[in-house]
This record gives sequence, C-alpha cells and structure tokens, in this order.
Amino acid sequence: MEKIKIFGFAGSLRKDSYNKSLLRAAAELLPENTELEIFDLEGIPLFNEDLESQTVAKVREFKAKIKAADAILIATPEYNYSMPGVLKNAIDWASRPYGDNSFEDKTLAIMGASIGNIASARAQYHLRQSCVCLNMHLLNKPEVMVGAVQGKVDKNGILTDEKTKEIIKSMLMNLVIMTKQLKKI
Ligand code: FNR
Repeated sequence: MEKIKIFGFAGSLRKDSYNKSLLRAAAELLPENTELEIFDLEGIPLFNEDLESQTVAKVREFKAKIKAADAILIATPEYNYSMPGVLKNAIDWASRPYGDNSFEDKTLAIMGASIGNIASARAQYHLRQSCVCLNMHLLNKPEVMVGAVQGKVDKNGILTDEKTKEIIKSMLMNLVIMTKQLKKI
C-alpha cells in the first residue's frame, strides 16, 4: 500500500523552537506506512499581492510540497494571543493566486507549544479559522496544546514528556485515519 505523506511545518523560525521540537517528536511517533517531511519557513519573503504570480523558489517549493502531500501538520506558537506573522504569511502565499490554493481539500492536524499555561490555544483557534477559509479538513480531536513546554523538552530540544508524546501519537493516528477515509484509500 502507498505511504501516507504528511508535510509539516512550524510557525517559528527560532533555532531552538519548541514547536520544531514537537514536529521532530511527531516524526518518531508516526503510524506505520506514514512519512513526515519537515519544512522550515526560513526564507519565505513577506507576501505582496503584486508578486503573487512571480513567486521566489522557496515559495514555489513550499506550494509544491503542500500539493504533493496527503495531509498537513502545523505546529504553531502563540504570539500575542494569535498565530505568528511568519505562519500567517506563509499560509497567505500558499493560498494564492486566486484559484491556486495549495491547501485545497487537504487534511490537517494542528499542534502547538507555549511557555504559558494557555498552551497556544488562542493561536490554534485563529489558525483553525483561516484553515476553514482554505477549505481544509481539520482534525478536531485530540487537541495537542502543550503548555509550560520548557519543562517537557530536554536541553537538546528532544520532547521528553510521555503524556505529550502519547497525545501526539494519537493525533497522528486520527489524522491518518481521516486522510484515508477522505481519499478512499
Ligand atoms: C510570545 N509568547 C507567548 N506565549 C503565549 O502563551 N501567549 C502569547 O500570547 C505569547 N505572545 C508572545 C509574543 C511574542 C512576540 C513572542 C516572541 C513570544 C511566548 C511564546 O510562547 C514562546 O516564545 C515560545 O517559545 C515560542 O515558540 P517557539 O519559538 O519556541 O516554537
């Protein structure tokens, strides 16, 4: 059977990003016959509608990888009660030009880590709103909201918290089940 291809990216450019740690952990917790490619948003310029048809190579690569994927996984930090501009900017590029929305009909799971106790919940719900506009199929449960993340990752950026790993594993399983159901595979 063909492998399910998940394409993942984090809404943080930070080298030691906790959200990148969640993505790396997800790569170790995949259901069988599933692969996860992790992409770094570094190098995506600020969106300009005047240039939306003349995209730079990094944007073209981003769009092509989204289109080639069966499912999308986004790890978002929370900045000022919302998603970071870096993430919204990348989403805006991938959604354009009008009629060429790379995310159309893709399944999506969202997770997020924050040093606060609200655990990126507000950012995740703003992101969900944009993903409805993008006509994606959002996985509802389980919600992966990792608060006080600084105590759940070791000094090498490895996720060590077993409960968080369990919930990421369960989210990935549900994402794959939903993807297979929608793609009828
Ligand atoms: C934050 N942070 C933050 N945390 C939170 O829980 N709610 C918030 O509204 C904000 N706001 C916010 C704004 C800005 C501009 C920054 C830089 C940070 C803290 C945030 O959770 C923390 O920096 C995380 O470590 C960011 O995620 P990465 O980069 O580790 O993935």
